[in-house]
Amino acid sequence: MKKRNLITCALPYANGPVHIGHLAGVYVPADIYVRYLRMRGRETLFVCGSDEHGVPITIAARKEGCTPQDIVDKYHALIKQSFADFGISFDIYSRTTSATHHRYAAQFFRKLYEEGKFIEKETEQYYDPEAKVFLADRYIVGTCPKCGNPDAYGDQCEKCGSTLSPEELINPHSKVSGAEPVKKKTRHWYLPLDQYEPWLREWILDGHKEWKTNVYGQCKSWLDGGLQPRAVSRDLDWGVPVPVEGAEGKVLYVWFDAPIGYISNTIELLPDSWETWWKSEDTRMIHFIGKDNIVFHCIVFPSMLKAYGDGFILPENVPANEFLNLEGDKISTSKNWAVWLHEYLQDFPGKQDTLRYVLTANAPETKDNDFTWKDFQTRHNSELVAIFGNFVNRAVVLTHKYFGGAVPAAGTLQDVDLEALAQIPLLKQEIEDNLETFKFREALKAAMNLARVGNKYISDTEPWAVAKTDLARTATILNTSLQLCASLSIAFAPFLPFSVEKLDRILNVAPLPWDDLGKAELLPVGHQLGKAELLFSKIEDAEIDKQVKRLAAIKAARLAS
Ligand code: 2FM
Ligand code: ZN
Repeated sequence: MKKRNLITCALPYANGPVHIGHLAGVYVPADIYVRYLRMRGRETLFVCGSDEHGVPITIAARKEGCTPQDIVDKYHALIKQSFADFGISFDIYSRTTSATHHRYAAQFFRKLYEEGKFIEKETEQYYDPEAKVFLADRYIVGTCPKCGNPDAYGDQCEKCGSTLSPEELINPHSKVSGAEPVKKKTRHWYLPLDQYEPWLREWILDGHKEWKTNVYGQCKSWLDGGLQPRAVSRDLDWGVPVPVEGAEGKVLYVWFDAPIGYISNTIELLPDSWETWWKSEDTRMIHFIGKDNIVFHCIVFPSMLKAYGDGFILPENVPANEFLNLEGDKISTSKNWAVWLHEYLQDFPGKQDTLRYVLTANAPETKDNDFTWKDFQTRHNSELVAIFGNFVNRAVVLTHKYFGGAVPAAGTLQDVDLEALAQIPLLKQEIEDNLETFKFREALKAAMNLARVGNKYISDTEPWAVAKTDLARTATILNTSLQLCASLSIAFAPFLPFSVEKLDRILNVAPLPWDDLGKAELLPVGHQLGKAELLFSKIEDAEIDKQVKRLAAIKAARLAS
């Protein structure tokens, strides 16, 4: 087993807040994984930051009448804070406008440039003569020649699904200024991905058959389609300036500089030892991303690292997820069709774990999935409250009632006790097997099954009824129940860190290491429990109605416009 784990999460664009789609696809699974590794005592580094360059940020600035820096300052602060409040346990969350990033990304480009790893090409590209900017296909809009949709993009019509090129649009105009685009010559640097194709085929198609089917399949279809040289620079005044002479007005393409952000953020955190993480065969690098980022993390960035050489490691796995929909519709930042993390945290204070739980239970691991507020409420009330919370509460309250809150000694264990306890190592193994293979839904299911075991055990054994006649047997049942509660504190810790913190307070224990799961006597006889408090409180219909109404109003406004 490799010594170190370098875990990265896609750097979110700092042009809007983070929503549940981002969380379910990337940040929640990554955080569960990292918390699990840390609990197992494996050396782990969790790196992320804001992606602050690119055309969308300049467009947002133009729209809001401010500078791109204002936009990224605003959203970087918001995103960083909401991740922290949500318990995403990054070791560093930095940004690609940082001096360290600009310096390192420029250095990275310069080395490849000086070693002749790029090709230079002059091409004609669309240009907005009013805004004086070159336009990516996405920023040219016009009427679809196939279906007449007046808002088709230069690369695709979202109404009829046709793939388009800007030439095909009727009445093409720039999304930036509305002007008709003209063609203009420009010079750029290209990474010749075609040269890396044989190596990529071997590395991925032969060497990583264990990658998730969606990831492997996308890589295979890119490779089978044949790779083309890809431009790594753009004509833009926002980004990392291309660090060579005669490149005024050109910046590194955002998809060239953003993944370098994983490296520069590590450098910012560990200026003296970052290479141990990035250039050692003893490091296992895992990229958590959404499916739209697969090509960049499996093909482009590895080719950049390969071109750079110097001992850089490549990812061992890229467990990309599919997309999460919201109430049956695609999540969309521009259409405001989303549940925003910072708003969720305000509307449901103290309920971070509910969202973590629901997004994991419903994670779009193998196919797109749907988030509904009704399902959110049901999972909270009938699983977290009614199973996990209810079990813990009964065990703790009864221990306070009959034994002054001190863990009572168990007598001879009966079959029912032994059967319940025997589930702990089995479910531990199930959680481990699933987490090690990035199957977070199944892992969570196994943890919840342990809570079910506890809840069923205490219901079946009825210590409150037994107490009337047999206090010694009551002691055995409560001892067994409390050992199960302590096991739940371990099993749920990667998934529900806030609730486990509370549970540890209730049990009056320090966080327990993963390997204690399945050990006997996690709570010694005589151990004094903390105060009983409810682990979860019910979510009422009114809270859900409010959210459903908010979405209905957004939909109504969209239909009316
Ligand atoms: O798709 C996105 O949101 C990009 N900002 C992800 C960048 S990931 C990495 F390469 F930095
Ligand atoms: Zn169309």
